[in-house]
Amino acid sequence: MLNIPKTTLFMISSLDGKISSGDTDSVDVDRDWKRVKGVREGLGQYYELEKHTDIFSFNTGRVMQKIGINSRTNNPKKILCTFVLVDNQPHLNEKGLHYLSNWLRHVIIVTTNKKHPAFAMEKAGQNISVIYYPSTINFINLFEKLKRQYGVNRLTVQSGGTMNATLIRAGLIDRISLVTAPLLVGGKTTPTLMDGEAIHSVSELNKLKPLKLLEMNKLKNSYINLVYKVLPKTVIVK
Ligand SMILES: NC(=O)c1ccc[n+]([C@@H]2O[C@H](COP(=O)([O-])OP(=O)(O)OC[C@H]3O[C@@H](n4cnc5c(N)ncnc54)[C@H](OP(=O)(O)O)[C@@H]3O)[C@@H](O)[C@H]2O)c1
Repeated sequence: MLNIPKTTLFMISSLDGKISSGDTDSVDVDRDWKRVKGVREGLGQYYELEKHTDIFSFNTGRVMQKIGINSRTNNPKKILCTFVLVDNQPHLNEKGLHYLSNWLRHVIIVTTNKKHPAFAMEKAGQNISVIYYPSTINFINLFEKLKRQYGVNRLTVQSGGTMNATLIRAGLIDRISLVTAPLLVGGKTTPTLMDGEAIHSVSELNKLKPLKLLEMNKLKNSYINLVYKVLPKTVIVK
């Protein structure tokens, strides 16, 4: 039995499972869906539910860059959350890291990049820690470390489709809480809740993840919130 945090993947998607409006960084749920009549009216319910998620949040530098963290100039009001951010490239620059450090209680950067700008800030005593993996990130080891060394008992995952696929397939997501907006987005290349590599043959059917419905909440303005448990084992019947 792994000693890891209880995890919930918390997302907003369209009815067709899309988590963005399209496939470039110029389009985005936060920016665009509030402009669409019929969708904008109920969108606030997602942000309300988000306020009740865990104080530890898991995401990627890629998403932080997309939402403009590197170019924010305001002085953020401090919140008591810790972000765990996987960032190798790096997508976050020094400015973005300073912003996060001012905004959050603690920032944990997980990286395979030994030149990541977060190292210098950790050394300077800022509220930034780095968890470094020399080649590939071992996510089971990472989640164990988060619980053991950083006291993370519950973790809300809010990353994009590539990372979500990695975590779901590694068996590291316990629950999914999905807010479905009354919208069809379309586009084969638009990110979905779970992207990553497609399966190519029946020998890989064990990568599919059956779910058990825990809650079905009808929200206002044609929105729904579905909460599922991810079943720990995929059984394929011959
Ligand atoms: N609607 C919502 O609730 C919601 C929430 C979050 C995101 N989104 C949307 O999702 C989209 C982003 O999705 P995405 O797939 O591009 O990004 P993503 O899954 O958030 O992040 C991809 C990055 O994570 C790192 N990564 C992924 N798998 C890894 C692995 N196995 N090992 C090590 N690092 C790994 C890589 O970082 P490096 O490049 O640094 O190596 C990769 O570039 C955006 O359009 C965003 O707006 C929507």
